[in-house]
Amino acid sequence: MKKIIVTGCNGQLGRAINVVYAGDSEYELINTDVEQLDITNVEAVMNFVADNQPYAIINCAAHTNVNACESQEDLAYKINAIGPRNLSIAAKSVGAKLVHISTDYVFPGENREKPYTEFDQVGPQSMYGTTKLAGENFVKQFADKFFIIRTAWLYGDGKNFVKTMLGAAKTNDVVKVVDDQIGSPTSAMELARAIKKLLPTDNYGLFHGTCEGVCSWADFTEEFYRLAGVTTKVQRITSDEYPSPAKRPAYSVLENYMFKLTTDIQFADWKDAIKEYMESGLADK
Ligand SMILES: NC(=O)c1ccc[n+]([C@@H]2O[C@H](COP(=O)([O-])OP(=O)(O)OC[C@H]3O[C@@H](n4cnc5c(N)ncnc54)[C@H](OP(=O)(O)O)[C@@H]3O)[C@@H](O)[C@H]2O)c1
Repeated sequence: MKKIIVTGCNGQLGRAINVVYAGDSEYELINTDVEQLDITNVEAVMNFVADNQPYAIINCAAHTNVNACESQEDLAYKINAIGPRNLSIAAKSVGAKLVHISTDYVFPGENREKPYTEFDQVGPQSMYGTTKLAGENFVKQFADKFFIIRTAWLYGDGKNFVKTMLGAAKTNDVVKVVDDQIGSPTSAMELARAIKKLLPTDNYGLFHGTCEGVCSWADFTEEFYRLAGVTTKVQRITSDEYPSPAKRPAYSVLENYMFKLTTDIQFADWKDAIKEYMESGLADK
């Protein structure tokens, strides 16, 4: 069996990876989260990888709290940049493949109406985006056989926007939701399925991997409220009316251009993916 080390296995993507590989006798997942393998510790990473001799590492670990990253700069660099650097060095040392996940927040998203491709210039506006971009650069610098996949607005089995807003609906007749940030909500299951298809190939490099179609956070909320039969109304507001520590891109739609150019891997439309998610019961957990 081919061994795959999963880091951050308790996170949304880590759990989805476990679902898509469940029952597959070709692969053995070695699940780790920070207690078993702290990716910021280079020595621990080198030893763990040397001991296990994996076929691949899928890095699902990250500091994903975008607002907290603004005040936790050191920690954000450690987890989002040094961590992938360590995994890259270790993967290369044993000839393993590395899957690393990045974000739409590497882009500025200002005065933009056209989806970003992998060939567009980056320009992060937040500490989260800055540290994730540093992580991408370390992977390019130190890994050999790598797939960097930028995703966006991820939801799955874990803490996420969908669950937060469903929770808010329980005690509110009206919720205010930002309507001037446009992106592509992406289900962790869709991303995990794409990773599983891409991993056996030699099709290395940088990919955008998001669900198809675009919407605002307010559009997204209305759609999953509709699917859940929730009667709470969505009041559309601007980002200025909802101040937060981190600046977010107004338009961060990614085109899955490299997937389209080099594979037949397609992501579901965001409306189909959120329907699957709501039917899965994960939003109620
Ligand atoms: N969530 C989004 O909206 C979004 C959008 C774009 C891109 N992404 C990217 O997609 C990937 C997966 O995100 P996700 O939403 O699945 O993340 P998540 O649910 O926040 O899970 C991240 C996991 O990593 C763990 N972790 C934190 N520090 C660690 C360390 N030093 N060593 C090992 N594990 C550590 C976390 O543990 P604790 O919970 O104990 O900290 C958590 O279990 C990340 O690379 C993220 O940047 C996410």
